Amino acid sequence: GQRIAILSAVHEELAEILQLMPDEQPIRLGGRSYWRGHLQGHEVVAVLSGIGKVAAATTTALLIERFAPEQVIFTGVAGGLLPGVEVGDIVVGSALVQHDLDASPLFARFEVPGYGRSRFQPDLALSQVLHAAAKDAVTWLPKLLDPEVLRAMGLHSPSVHQGEIATGDRFVASEADSAALRAALPEALAVDMESAAVAQVCHDCGLPFAVVRTISDRADNQAHVDFPLFLREVARHYSARIVRKALNLL
Ligand code: ADE
Repeated sequence: GQRIAILSAVHEELAEILQLMPDEQPIRLGGRSYWRGHLQGHEVVAVLSGIGKVAAATTTALLIERFAPEQVIFTGVAGGLLPGVEVGDIVVGSALVQHDLDASPLFARFEVPGYGRSRFQPDLALSQVLHAAAKDAVTWLPKLLDPEVLRAMGLHSPSVHQGEIATGDRFVASEADSAALRAALPEALAVDMESAAVAQVCHDCGLPFAVVRTISDRADNQAHVDFPLFLREVARHYSARIVRKALNLL
């Protein structure tokens, strides 16, 4: 078994994973609870980062310093940006960019000063494991979820995508905002508020990192309705299913 860190932003994304750990014990550090225990034969530390880039970065830095994980996985929800990235689909990140970072004209828009780049690439092998786990999850989830919920959310046969995820300190909740993101970052499949921050810290520390996100909303005028409903009814089933399968494959 390896020492694997599982991060999520909010409780609903991590709740079921904690329930799967038979022996988890919380350790308080920097205002977070780091849950140490076992899952699928691996030593696991699971932690809620809270929402946003700063919360995600501090949580990741303390996680690495205190618990020395060998691999870092972020699991949670995201808003779909490109057409065809629908509620209930899963996105495995292949590049992480901060859509709200702009030090122009000193640096190109989106470039992270001091790094000579605007994107961080996750670990390929770990991402492939998450992709395989996501493929497995989407075949099971429609059978596991309450048919009422499936109908209410319009989920039918979810797909798995692999591509760029854009991160920023903004909940994207209008057509205008998501159209602007599509124009600025035409490759970005989805938008979230943590992944690129975690990717940057893991890059700094030379640690393998990968991210898997379930689409909770389309980052449009309905996002403020879809997002809480998805979090309440669906998110926990996805993240538990994906993470359990991924740890099985590792
Ligand atoms: N995470 C889930 N939905 C999101 C959205 N619309 N904007 C930013 N982060 C999100």
